[in-house]
Amino acid sequence: MTNALHPTPADPTRDPFALARALSGLHFIGGRYVPAVSGQTFPVVNPATGAEVAQAALGDAADIDVAVREAARAQKDWARMPARKRGALVHQCSAILKAHSEELARLIALETGKALRTESRVEAGVVADIFEFFGGLGGELKGETVPFSPTVLSVTVREPLGVVGAIIPWNVPMLLMALKIAPALVAGNTVVVKSAEEAPLTVLRICELLNRVLPAGCFNMVSGFGPECGAPLVSHPLVRKVTFTGSVETGRIVSATAAQKLVPVTLELGGKSPMIVFADCDFEKTVAGAITSMRFTRQGQSCTAASRIYVERPIFDRFVAAMAERVDAMVMGDPLDERTDIGTIISTGQYEKVRAFVAEGQATAGATARVCSAMPTDPALTKGLFLQPVIFTGLTKDSRLVREEIFGPVTTIFPFDDAETVLAEANDSEYGLAASLWTNNLTVGLSLAHRLEAGLVQINQNLVVQANLSYGGVKSSGLGKEASLEAMLEHFTHKKTIMVNMG
Ligand code: NAI
Ligand code: MG
Repeated sequence: MTNALHPTPADPTRDPFALARALSGLHFIGGRYVPAVSGQTFPVVNPATGAEVAQAALGDAADIDVAVREAARAQKDWARMPARKRGALVHQCSAILKAHSEELARLIALETGKALRTESRVEAGVVADIFEFFGGLGGELKGETVPFSPTVLSVTVREPLGVVGAIIPWNVPMLLMALKIAPALVAGNTVVVKSAEEAPLTVLRICELLNRVLPAGCFNMVSGFGPECGAPLVSHPLVRKVTFTGSVETGRIVSATAAQKLVPVTLELGGKSPMIVFADCDFEKTVAGAITSMRFTRQGQSCTAASRIYVERPIFDRFVAAMAERVDAMVMGDPLDERTDIGTIISTGQYEKVRAFVAEGQATAGATARVCSAMPTDPALTKGLFLQPVIFTGLTKDSRLVREEIFGPVTTIFPFDDAETVLAEANDSEYGLAASLWTNNLTVGLSLAHRLEAGLVQINQNLVVQANLSYGGVKSSGLGKEASLEAMLEHFTHKKTIMVNMG
């Protein structure tokens, strides 16, 4: 059943095209779908075909103001609700998200070009898991008793910050939204999310699913562009906390504005993550690990992509050849097709950006580019933003391809001779988000793990962000952590001290 204010189907649907149309032209504010104050919209494009699949509401400062006031109004009652009760409601969202996970996976595949089987279903599953995890943490919002004087009872209590402004990107929008919304809500805050202009639909659908359980106004979502819609959210006087995932460049702008208002920020920014492979590793497992680490199934559009791979010299040639062979066997095609391993780049802007990096690498003297995976042959996909994965060897460490985040299916591989040199090379980066080490010598592995400048180091695996494990970078990769109990406490509450003189 649908109506004008509630145009989306109650039951899970397998038709992402119809769902995209139903979600057209809408924000989600105060528990319902609403059009932009200006009435304006902008197109949402299927990157696999170039076809427009929906229009999104074009939000600006006026929409942000309505949403933030709605969140501020809802926050009073929400914060008064017992913490475990808030958690229980967030936990209930998980069941609804699970029931709709195939629907969400198909919709995100449509709007982002991420392959359904290898990426989109995985993301939908993680989203439900994040709500389940944080939903169980309401009772952990504990304070302390503080020794001060026998006649003065001194305690601390955890209080919410108020309205949280959350800005998310397009690469894993559902997951990144969940990492912000779920802990913020359990801690007693309310939220306004600014979705990414390239991927506003799936997160908008999720709002309505959450609203089946959570009180109206607890979370609100506005779509629009960065400077016109994201910036007013950061600067809004009622927003008491900003959490952002995206580029370093935009992170700096967001952080500067928040600093003027003296509100805390959490920043999850880019990466140029090293993967270090020792000759004593389990070879086949590590080659497979390199494919996963580079997130080739997501076209490399990941902040933790292993875009600098260092391989110990005795196995270097064999490793590069085995890796290229495996990537070559991956199927590029329609993101909604079950056979597809690799879908498309998100937008023409990103497509051109990545192509410029590849062209620069190919024009570099001494460099070799192994271009892998056949382009799709389906005539329906000729306008799709498909880009063949490229594995570069022979680049020097001052190359832009080695220093800058490409955010595409492009990796660089280097031989190394000793652990100290490779550690120095791995740390020689502006970024410090993630790193992985592959070796059967845990003494060497652990020693390097302690000295790598990164927020997350994994030995013999390279998983994406997981609920319960703090996640976030050092250096230019960000500020603060997400995904864990500590992250919820540190970033979505403040500690109030209360003293009672009993003397
Ligand atoms: P971006 O950082 O500009 O966009 C991320 C979010 O910030 C979007 O919702 C955008 O609308 C918003 N935004 C942009 N300007 C803003 C402003 N002045 N105030 C408030 N919000 C603003 O990233 P973009 O342009 O999509 O991609 C550029 C590069 O950033 C990529 O090539 C990649 O290297 C990196 N990136 C990193 C991500 C990560 O997961 N760490 C995610 C997306 C992009
Ligand atoms: Mg940008």
